Parts: sequence; structure tokens; C-alpha cells
Amino acid sequence: MENPVTDTLKPAPATPLQPRRRAILIGAAQGIGAALAKKLADEGYTLALVDRNPERLNKVCVDINANGQSAVPYQHDVTDYESVPATLCRIVADLGGLDLFVYVAGVIHFPALDEYNFEQDHKMVEVNLLGAMAWISQVAPMFQNAKRGQIVGVSSVAGDRGRIGNPGYNTSKAGLTTYLEALRNRLTRHGVNVITIKPGMVKTEMLTLPGAPRPMFAVTPEQAANEIARAIRKRKQVTYVSGLWRWIMLVIRHIPSVIFRRMSF
Ligand SMILES: NC(=O)c1ccc[n+]([C@@H]2O[C@H](COP(=O)([O-])OP(=O)(O)OC[C@H]3O[C@@H](n4cnc5c(N)ncnc54)[C@H](OP(=O)(O)O)[C@@H]3O)[C@@H](O)[C@H]2O)c1
Repeated sequence: MENPVTDTLKPAPATPLQPRRRAILIGAAQGIGAALAKKLADEGYTLALVDRNPERLNKVCVDINANGQSAVPYQHDVTDYESVPATLCRIVADLGGLDLFVYVAGVIHFPALDEYNFEQDHKMVEVNLLGAMAWISQVAPMFQNAKRGQIVGVSSVAGDRGRIGNPGYNTSKAGLTTYLEALRNRLTRHGVNVITIKPGMVKTEMLTLPGAPRPMFAVTPEQAANEIARAIRKRKQVTYVSGLWRWIMLVIRHIPSVIFRRMSF
């Protein structure tokens, strides 16, 4: 949590004449999270950016603050579940409230088709699913009591079906998708908007890892950020990024198991 470079930095305060929406982004040091942080800063949000790598996180904040916008870094590893309540309290006190919570953090390991790797599967479930649950289970009651707020989780098209390529990643994202759907069903009646983002392929470091598939209909992190920001503005429920994946996955989801298990997709 200590950050010698930016510990003196505080978020720009809201005033009656200049109300500011306040957002927390988890996993904002690079890729989709960093691009979304810049986009939300452009839209006037005051940001608390959370990630485990302080150097990269500081750089994103310095870039945003250099534009006269407001972002403060908080170093945190999402697998440190016990520290989530205190970290959230500190951030909400610093921001003076909270309007939007976004969970983007994620990891992936691309296994070979004959590889069954519990250590890697464990990491993916810890970061992609349990980290999200640790944070959102603290944010949800806050928003439920306030009868307002938005929760966004970045899941994946990979959660829509169990495919031969990556059972562990598929499972972590299917779990996140279901968790978000359940929370949406709980919280919509309390005025809270829960959005599931399902990217197809986005040109980030993730797609450069060993074993990564050839990019297909891949968009830039900035394009992904624009579509996520639009989903937030429009208070959507489920958004595929890019929109083309909505149609691809509509077909994929309806392929009968008896055929799907013979496919290499
Ligand atoms: N890129 C794609 O094609 C694609 C497609 C579908 C879904 N997604 C999802 O989109 C999200 C963002 O992915 P991305 O492509 O932007 O990946 P990325 O560039 O690797 O960014 C992921 C961020 O999450 C952070 N993170 C990972 N583990 C963490 C931990 N234990 N504690 C705190 N922060 C942690 C990473 O920090 P480190 O750099 O320190 O690891 C990184 O800053 C992920 O949930 C991913 O599964 C991506």
C-alpha cells in the first residue's frame, strides 16, 4: 500500500459547483485497464487506480495527472484478499465516495493440449475470479445500501463455453460471468447497474504470451476502452468487445455438445 512516489497525491475533490464522478479500477497498470483509466479520466472521473506493479501504475497516473485530470495509484495484489476491506475503505475515504467500480485484473496461461497444470489454473482462478469476488462482495453492499452505483467486471468470451484450449481460464471466466449475472439479478432492483464485459481479442501483452492464439478480430486497448466506457454511459448489462463477438458467440453457444466436442475451437 505504501507508495513513496505518490503518497502525497490526493484525488481532486468534488465541489457543489464541480461534481466529479469517482471510480476505482482494479488492474489499471497496463492493457485494457490503463486505456480505460485514460478514457474515464477524459470523461471527468476522479480515479483510484489499483494494481500490483507500482512503477507501471505510477506512470499511468502521472500521464493522466499531466493532462489536468486526477488519478491516484494504490499498490495492491488482488490475491491478498484479507487486505481488501481496509484498502477499499481507505480509497473511498480518499475519493470522498464512489460511483463506479471496475474489475479488469486478469492473468492467463496458455497450456498445450495435453497439459493439465493445476498451479497455473489455481493462479487464474485466484486472480480472475476470487480477486473479483473479494472486491465486489465489499462494494456491492455499499452500493445496495446507497441504492445507486455501477459495478463492471471484465470477463471474456472464453467464459461462454468450455473449450479444448484452456479449461482453467474458461472456468475462471465462466465463474466470473455467472457471479456478475447473479449480482445483477440481486442489485438491479436496488438501482445498482452491474455490467459484464466480454472481450474477444484485444492487442495487449496477454496476446504476446507463449502459446497465445493468432489474433482474430482483435481490437486495440483504446478501442476496447471506448466500448467499455460506452457500456458504462448507457448502463448496459452484457457487452461483447468488439460487438462482432456477440454474433460469433451466439452461434458458438448454440452448437450442440455432441458436435462441439469434435471441434478444435
Ligand atoms: N487481451 C485479450 O485478448 C483479452 C480477451 C478477453 C478478456 N481479457 C481480459 O481483460 C482483462 C485485462 O486484460 P489485458 O489484456 O489488459 O491484460 P494485461 O495487459 O496483462 O493487464 C492485466 C492487468 O492485471 C494486473 N494483474 C494481474 N494479476 C494481478 C494481481 N494479482 N494483483 C493486481 N493486479 C494484477 C496485471 O498486472 P501485472 O502486469 O503485474 O501482471 C495487469 O496490469 C483480463 O481480465 C483479461 O482476462 C483480455
